[in-house]
Amino acid sequence: MVKEIRNGILFFDGCDTTALAAQYGTPLYIFSETEIVSRFSELRSCFLEKYYNTRVAYACKAFCTPAMLRLVMREGMCIDVVSGGELYTALRAGFPPERIEFNGNNKLPSELELAVDAGIGRIIIDGLQELPLLESICRKKGVRMNVLYRITPGVKASTHDYIVTGKKDSKFGIPLEDTVIYPAVEAAIRSEFVNFLGFHYHVGSQLFDNTPYLQALEVALGLVRETRKRFGFSVRELNIGGGYGIRYTGEERRPYSYFLDPVMTRLNQFCADEGIERPAVVIEPGRSIVGEAGITLYTVGSIKEIPGVRKYISVDGGMTDNIRPALYQAVYKGMLAGRADEPATEQVTVCGKCCESGDLLMRDVMLPPARSGDIFAVFSTGAYGYSMASNYNHNPIPAVILVKEGRPELIVRRQTYDDLLTCAVIPDSLK
Ligand SMILES: Cc1ncc(COP(=O)(O)O)c(C=O)c1O
Repeated sequence: MVKEIRNGILFFDGCDTTALAAQYGTPLYIFSETEIVSRFSELRSCFLEKYYNTRVAYACKAFCTPAMLRLVMREGMCIDVVSGGELYTALRAGFPPERIEFNGNNKLPSELELAVDAGIGRIIIDGLQELPLLESICRKKGVRMNVLYRITPGVKASTHDYIVTGKKDSKFGIPLEDTVIYPAVEAAIRSEFVNFLGFHYHVGSQLFDNTPYLQALEVALGLVRETRKRFGFSVRELNIGGGYGIRYTGEERRPYSYFLDPVMTRLNQFCADEGIERPAVVIEPGRSIVGEAGITLYTVGSIKEIPGVRKYISVDGGMTDNIRPALYQAVYKGMLAGRADEPATEQVTVCGKCCESGDLLMRDVMLPPARSGDIFAVFSTGAYGYSMASNYNHNPIPAVILVKEGRPELIVRRQTYDDLLTCAVIPDSLK
């Protein structure tokens, strides 16, 4: 267990969290290398080593820093990027371009040029206009890129509406109407400038049920069969996205095999029935790799009691370092890191310091009576926390440290007030 209590103090991957707060300041994001590596090891044994011709492309939107990408690289995985910025970060971190896949529903010409120039592994085409745009870039540069089509499988996964992506009414993916998808497939197969490999879909995020994965697979298998029938083309790759759920509060995390084994069994059976070679299978986990590997530490500041109504505990961060409670009503667990043995006798609402009434990190949670100066830890903040952080109210973005078996290392330094001004310009007219 990377999380343990020793003498009433929360330790994370062998480090005293109160000492880390004192050393690095708060708010502070902490990532456990041990936890991240254990997720990759699980994937290696239950997927990569169990099924040939498979790849894991970590969805780095969940947490993207050069150090994290070096760790992913060391673990031998691929990555999925969704912007020129993530791609640039990966390239600067020395990530092998051929192990990079590029998703996104509105890739800019400049982003596609960067991808083509770098010679990345795959571009996941997400709309009908993207193929001609990519072809024009490839023509200019005299290269041919590997591509897949992202489809919208029309599956409604049970999760928050903002993180359902595979339903029919979605901004992502190409609609599956025959008159839309097959001309697009034909154009990609016949193109001189792309090498069409197959299909991609992502049904949603924070899922605990394998049913939508199997439903989406059936849709994709229909496409595989039809593509062969119509064009004599055997699909070589299927990318089935990410979405595997993690523990925020009381959830029970399902092992990856719960999702992947039924998919692989069905796919193998389909290929045997059709007499075709099984396409390569790629998955794109993000949240499940880093979510539980991250915690955030805050310092308690002002405390406000409204008699008979509510007690607010303010911390020194909030929606700027974790937008998820405000954005998706996400719920988290937390504790006073230096008083972990004390009974939780008070119901409180933990709020951030931003000028928004909705800047509440946790509503109605039980804690020991908190005092100003206490260190408050929030669990499972590793995914979509730092990566969604903002400078709202000109709050600097916190530092990030990586811990492993008692050894902390800084991987992103805390922003300074000067950092907030690096891009700002005062024009002559206002000098
Ligand atoms: C295309 C794609 N792949 C992978 C992911 C990662 O999902 P998760 O972090 O839930 O594993 C997402 C998340 O939105 C996505 O859109």
